Parts: sequence; structure tokens; C-alpha cells
Amino acid sequence: MPERYAKITGWGKYVPERVLTNADLEKMVDTSDEWITTRTGIKERRIRGENEQASDFSVKSALPALEMAGLAAKDLDLIIVACSSPDYLVPGVATIVQHKLGARCGAFQITSGCSGWVYALVTATQFIQAGTMDNILVIGTDLVSYGVDYTDRTTCVLFGDASAAVVLQPSEEPAGVITYELGSDGSGAEHLYVPGAGSVMPISKYGDRLVKERLGYIKMNGPEVFKFATRTLASSMKRVMDKAGLLPEDIALFIPHQANLRIIETAARMMHQPLDKFMINLQKYGNTSAASVPLALVEAIEEGKCRVGDKVVLCAFGAGLTWASAVVLLGSGEVSLAHSWLSLGRLAKRTVGKARDAVQAFLLNVQMRRLEAKRKAKAR
Ligand code: UT7
Repeated sequence: MPERYAKITGWGKYVPERVLTNADLEKMVDTSDEWITTRTGIKERRIRGENEQASDFSVKSALPALEMAGLAAKDLDLIIVACSSPDYLVPGVATIVQHKLGARCGAFQITSGCSGWVYALVTATQFIQAGTMDNILVIGTDLVSYGVDYTDRTTCVLFGDASAAVVLQPSEEPAGVITYELGSDGSGAEHLYVPGAGSVMPISKYGDRLVKERLGYIKMNGPEVFKFATRTLASSMKRVMDKAGLLPEDIALFIPHQANLRIIETAARMMHQPLDKFMINLQKYGNTSAASVPLALVEAIEEGKCRVGDKVVLCAFGAGLTWASAVVLLGSGEVSLAHSWLSLGRLAKRTVGKARDAVQAFLLNVQMRRLEAKRKAKAR
């Protein structure tokens, strides 16, 4: 069992005012409210204001999270922002957020598509468990609307803009991320990507072609990503529960990435769990990429769907292809008897490993001394 856990002590969210409905999209591309609703479950999404950037979104979700945790920005030891739509390609958006908040700590960006925030949460947890940091802000922000081609009906109906954040602080009681899984399968990188503007097709060399062929926008092989998502969601959630010694019955709420209602329904069927045990807010926001899981978590708490002391399972998946899942204990408390035994088992394994290393080092030392003695005897 770790000596320190990373407890979620504050949270916040920000969604822009502008609403883009299915009816609005009907006027822009060859689609229909009926198609979007039955194929995805999405009814509307939020779109950033003209001069709103990822750093602005991040600050707006961070401030309520800091206030709830009783922290000032200057108290922070680290800021991690999961974001694939930053203000600039370089630097990452986290430094701009650090500056706008008036924080004086390290800050970095994780670009891992829709999985980014769960990756960031797990990463932040490691610094707290290692005992090297106390106050970490973990933000998930994406302004997917700026990377979406509003002439491409296969992608533009899916995405929206949002941000959500949590503050992590140390706890001696079990809290926060209890078990996790981080996954990557880069063989599927081109199933969901922006082909242009990276080193493969620099803007400086391919600028005209990028504009003409619309290569600076998100391209997605929907059916391939759909298959990957349905394969991953239920199985990854199950693996993190197994690691924690928990059953679905022990979980208050499953909080999946909000990409498509059909993906969530499939996972619920595969896990033999009722759909109302899954947080769903995609009808209001669409797929908000790195903001999706934290926004769903924050709204689940606000709506009383999960409470302090509850265990929830998070699972995100997307570009990469990547995925990330975690069992998270809200507030602090006990996890499960099985978890304690599993942790004791891990501790015992570590202790045995250390003892084995010590014996090996001792034997090596004896051998070295013998060889040295032999060498000296020969020299005489
Ligand atoms: O955040 C990262 C994770 N992302 C995901 O998990 C997304 C995973 N993929 C999906 O959710 C689904 O694949 C989509 C919602 C993107 C697409 O649904 P689908 O049922 O897989 O549709 P499809 O791509 O197989 O297309 C079926 C038909 C096609 O027409 P034809 O070729 O059969 O005549 C499409 O052109 O639906 C058509 N279509 C549309 N029709 C009306 C595609 N998009 C639209 C649209 N409106 N917006």
C-alpha cells in the first residue's frame, strides 16, 4: 500500500456559452438531427467564443477547483494540462496557464487526445505518492471546434469545446487513483489524426496543399475507432477493477469518455450493468476530447450521482490510439478487503525481492574477495 495517496480536494468546469445544435448543423452539412441522435446520442455541443483560447478555458475551470481546495495559485507545486488544441504548437499551453494563474511552479502539457486527462491524473498521482509534491492542478481542456472541418459531416457533428480541472493533495488514507491502466497502440495512429502541420507535412513546405486538401483538420476512420472503443471500454474498466479487488457492484458510477452513446451502451451490456450506472452527458456537449472525462466527473458529483467515499471507474480512449482507466476513490476511506490483501501481497513481493537482491550482492562480494585473495596469492 502506498504511504501517501493523492486525494481529489477540489474541482471545477468551464463550458462556453455558444451552443451548436443538431438543427444548426443541418444547415451547414448534409446531416439530420435524426441521424446524429440515433448514431451518437448527441443533441448539442458548446463552441468557444472568437477570442477564447485553451489557456482561457483552463484558467476558468482551474479557479473554482483551487478555491474549493482552499489553495492559492502560488501554493501549487505543479500544473499538468491535457490538451491537443493548445494556443500555440510551441510552447505547450500549460506554461501559459501557469502565467495567467500567477502560479510559480513547473507546468507541462500532455497531448494524448481524449485519453490525455486520465494520463495526467495518473501522472500527477505519482508525484504525490513519491512524496515530492503536495499540490497539483490537473486540467483537461480541448477546443476541438478549431480543428474540425465544418464541411465534413463525418466528424463535425461529434465534437465540442470544454474544460474541467481537479486539485490533488496528499492523504494518508486511501484516496484518489487506487489502480490504473495506461494503454497505447500506435499502429492505429492514422485512424484519428491531423495529417498536416506536423513534421511529415510542415506548413512552411506544404501550406497550399494543406489548405486545398483540408489536411489541417481532424480526420477519423469512425468505424475503426468505434471497434477499438467498444473493445477497450469494458475490458479496461474490468482490468482496473480486478487490480483493486473490486466487483462492478462495488462501484458507484462508471465514468466513460463521452464519444458515442452506442459505445457506452455496448460496454454496459458487456459488463452486465444497467445503463444508469454510467455517467452520460454527451447529449449536451458531444465529444470534448481531453475535457470529456473530467467534465463528466465534475457533473456527476454536482448532480449527486456519486459522493465522497464512493468508488468510480474512469475510462478514456481516443487518438493514438490510446486509452487510460482508473479506479478512483472520491474523498478518502477504505477500498476493499481484497485490495488490502493485494497490496499486502505486492508489499511481500517487494520485500522478498529486496532480500533476494541483498543475498545476491553478498554472494557477489564474497566471490570478488576470493578472486582478489587468489590474485594476491599468485602474485606472491
Ligand atoms: O474521441 C475519440 C473516440 N472517438 C470515437 O469513439 C468515435 C467512434 N466512432 C463513432 O462513434 C462512429 O463510427 C461515428 C458516429 C463516427 C459514425 O457512425 P457509424 O455508424 O460508424 O457510421 P459510418 O461511418 O459507418 O457511416 C454510415 C453512413 C455513411 O453513409 P453510406 O456510405 O452508408 O451511404 C456515412 O456517409 O452514415 C453516413 N454519415 C452520415 N450521415 C448523416 C456519416 N456521418 C453522417 C452524418 N449525417 N453526420
